[in-house]
Amino acid sequence: MNLGFIYGLVSGFIIMAIVSAITVKNLGDEKEFLRKEVDFLKNTLNRITRVAPLRYLADKNGILIGTCVSSSHLTDRDYVETLIREFSVVTTENELKFEIVHPSPNTYVFEPADRIISLAEANGMRVRGHTLVWHAQLPPWIVNGNFTKEEWKKVLREHILTVVGRYRGRIWAWDVVNEAVDDTGSLRDTVWLKNIGPEYIELAFRWAHEADPGALLFYNDYGIEEVNAKSDAVYRLIKELLKRNVPIHGVGFQMHVSLDNPPNPQKVAENIKRFTDLGLQVHITEMDVRIKLPATEDELIRQAQVYKEILEVCLNSKNCTAFVMWGFTDKYSWIPYAFPGYGAALIFDENYLPKPAYYALWETLFSKAIWTPTSSD
Ligand code: G3I
Repeated sequence: MNLGFIYGLVSGFIIMAIVSAITVKNLGDEKEFLRKEVDFLKNTLNRITRVAPLRYLADKNGILIGTCVSSSHLTDRDYVETLIREFSVVTTENELKFEIVHPSPNTYVFEPADRIISLAEANGMRVRGHTLVWHAQLPPWIVNGNFTKEEWKKVLREHILTVVGRYRGRIWAWDVVNEAVDDTGSLRDTVWLKNIGPEYIELAFRWAHEADPGALLFYNDYGIEEVNAKSDAVYRLIKELLKRNVPIHGVGFQMHVSLDNPPNPQKVAENIKRFTDLGLQVHITEMDVRIKLPATEDELIRQAQVYKEILEVCLNSKNCTAFVMWGFTDKYSWIPYAFPGYGAALIFDENYLPKPAYYALWETLFSKAIWTPTSSD
């Protein structure tokens, strides 16, 4: 299968649509004509997207497209089928967070993460490991820990060496430090900052690198998608880390956004550029676009536009190498719990039917793959 074949398929369907349009129109029934056309086009699109799903087209554009995955949904057949058909990279949603993977000092629980990682490997998907150092989802023995500074360092080092070491060579990229900067641009007041001091960030990257020198190491945060006070602070922090030769390879823009206040694509592009200029990769790591419920058709179409704009920015930025969403079906999403009254944030509905946002991503990847000249052109 190649792009020419898919291009031929699309053209074929368009010709058939025109022929059928003329035929039906001759029948003189305008309403029936429109209904049949819409059904025909939807059917056609569905068939084409089965032949060339998102991951196939993303690959043609040289990027990975992905979603977070929860091990608890892996018994849902439709979930797994859609996941492996459409995506080329997965992020562990909760399974590698401290609370779950390391619930007590001498206990590590790897089975839920193992299930996700094995599924990814069996289906040619890469894995983003999430996350080694965060202020949330910590077990009680850490939240209430009473150790000396040296002991805290030992705890964190042992945690990172064990978790990263176990998956050495299998996890493509790690969110090493997550959300370490607060909304004012200061370092967030966390258990790690309090007990180790600001050097915990540098140490975490160094230990992760020691455990897996081949893994890409990311700083990941929300609210840093555009140039603003918080992204300025993250920029300064990373620049300083690079100056000290700390092994950091990328920055993750979470991109949890609301249709009430969508991101400005030019400002996101400008921000990606300054991190790219530091020699870093950028990943969109957790995109979702929440809508006040019930979502209208018009809102779903505006939502599609937001997804499309951010994907375009990523495709046009040479170091933006992965576009990852925080889930893919509205059946499972953190949004209704965290933002009561909001939802419909993802690209498939609760029944795994593609929403306008899915088609917008598909069309963006398809057009770009078709129209971008290759080196032999
Ligand atoms: O596993 C327990 C279950 O045993 C219990 O019955 C149930 C009762 O509430 O809770 C379950 O744990 C929940 C866990 O997700 C697993 O589903 C927690 O309550 C819930 O707080 C937790 O939420 C996660 C959230 O991070 C915590 O902050 C979301 O699933 C997860 O999607 C979300 O992910 C974060 C990223 O890691 C960082 N960026 C923001 C993003 C969204 O908040």
